[in-house]
Amino acid sequence: MSTDKDRVNTVTITDNQTGNSIELDIIEPTQGDRIIDIQSLHNKLGLFTYDPGFTVTASCWSKITYLDGEKGELQYRGYPIEQLVEESSFIETAFLLLCGHLPSQSELDEFSVEITKDSLLQEEIKRFFSGFHSNAHPMAIMVGVVGALSAFYHKYLDIHDPINRKDAAKLLIAKMPTIAAWSYRYANGLPFVYPRHDYTYVENFLHMMFDLPTDKYIVDPLIAQALEVIMISHADHEQNASTSTVRLASSSEANPFASVAAGIASLWGPAHGGANEAVIRMLQDMMSSEKSIESYIERAKDKSDSFRLMGFGHRIYKNYDPRAKIIRKLCHRIGSESESALSVENKKLLDMALKLEGMALADEYFIKRKLYPNVDFYSGIIMLSIGIPLNMFTVIFAMARTVGWVSQWNEMMGDDSSKISRPRQCYLGATKRDYIPMDER
Ligand code: CMC
Repeated sequence: MSTDKDRVNTVTITDNQTGNSIELDIIEPTQGDRIIDIQSLHNKLGLFTYDPGFTVTASCWSKITYLDGEKGELQYRGYPIEQLVEESSFIETAFLLLCGHLPSQSELDEFSVEITKDSLLQEEIKRFFSGFHSNAHPMAIMVGVVGALSAFYHKYLDIHDPINRKDAAKLLIAKMPTIAAWSYRYANGLPFVYPRHDYTYVENFLHMMFDLPTDKYIVDPLIAQALEVIMISHADHEQNASTSTVRLASSSEANPFASVAAGIASLWGPAHGGANEAVIRMLQDMMSSEKSIESYIERAKDKSDSFRLMGFGHRIYKNYDPRAKIIRKLCHRIGSESESALSVENKKLLDMALKLEGMALADEYFIKRKLYPNVDFYSGIIMLSIGIPLNMFTVIFAMARTVGWVSQWNEMMGDDSSKISRPRQCYLGATKRDYIPMDER
């Protein structure tokens, strides 16, 4: 650290090979650890930094979401997630994330109407669905259809106009439940159901998923409320892999539809949004197996085995993920308030999850590495309980996270200092050498 009393907000870096030193500014965030501004490092010292997976690198500034991994806290625009799931709705949370403040009643009404009125897809888009194989994973359909939106909604492509940008963001939020529900309908050979203007965002999604020409779907308020909680909890999570993917893709000024499609692709991986599906598969495997829970824990600890406890551990949270706490509570609530929602099978899954959590949290391996249940550990049980099929879990995550993606995209595109993302590398390959003709190799 600098000893200069007038410049305490700096850090001094010395290259011990050359003896050259530089003083770099320290940025003070409103919350969280201080950050060294290393932008002049290469110019002044001829050095780059090495940080695989960006574990200690801030790639942008942001005013949207803050999380404290040590304390297990999450805030959207400063509001704690616990208060938002209790007091807010998904659509109000979407307004908050996108616009930066809690809406007045008239702002909320206007926003809700705008989102609802844009929920229809252009009819030709239906043909995209039928291009997929009948057993396609709904996430595969979603990546393709969202990417294709840029071919239909040209007037939203002026990313330099802030009004246009907000309209594109709202359009994506509006169309996502229709695309998500239709991915499921197509993959299950069911007719598409159109959105309705008299339903809330979440009710509309449930309606499009489950209504049948032969059997009208009546939205159960408890199910709708549970889905609201899941959606609010997944709406944003600062610079995670999929959000960083959206920022990176759009840093080249790629259109928002293509950039969000890239985010969906990144979310799909089992280390990220695909973990909720993987958790249920793991719990089902445990239930049908002769092997004990201990043997799964031992496998997860064995470095020669690639198996990990799904739904455990997090890059940032080194404490209980606050979203997991909320969803764990919701599982118990669903179980106690609705006899039918938590079926015998799902009750067994919940019991298995609770047992596994208890054993892992008491195990030295997990304690030492600060591995706690993350958001995905319990969210799958809730989704199964409210009738969402396994392969739709990550789709629902994507639908909720779209709000975060477009809010972060809008923030980045409005920032004059943002640049095309272009990380450096530490090259360890061959040094320069001459081409060898085929007969001399
Ligand atoms: N089971 C067993 N060991 C684990 C696990 C786990 N689930 N997670 C991390 N570890 C170990 C890991 O082997 C390593 O041990 P060691 O120091 O001896 O080499 C140590 O803990 C640190 O792990 P890491 O891989 O360096 O940590 P990371 O920050 O790179 O990875 C993670 C975070 C979420 C990818 C990882 O914990 C994981 O793979 N978890 C399971 C998948 C999962 O639940 N993903 C959902 C994430 S939350 C939803 C979201 O926001 O997307």
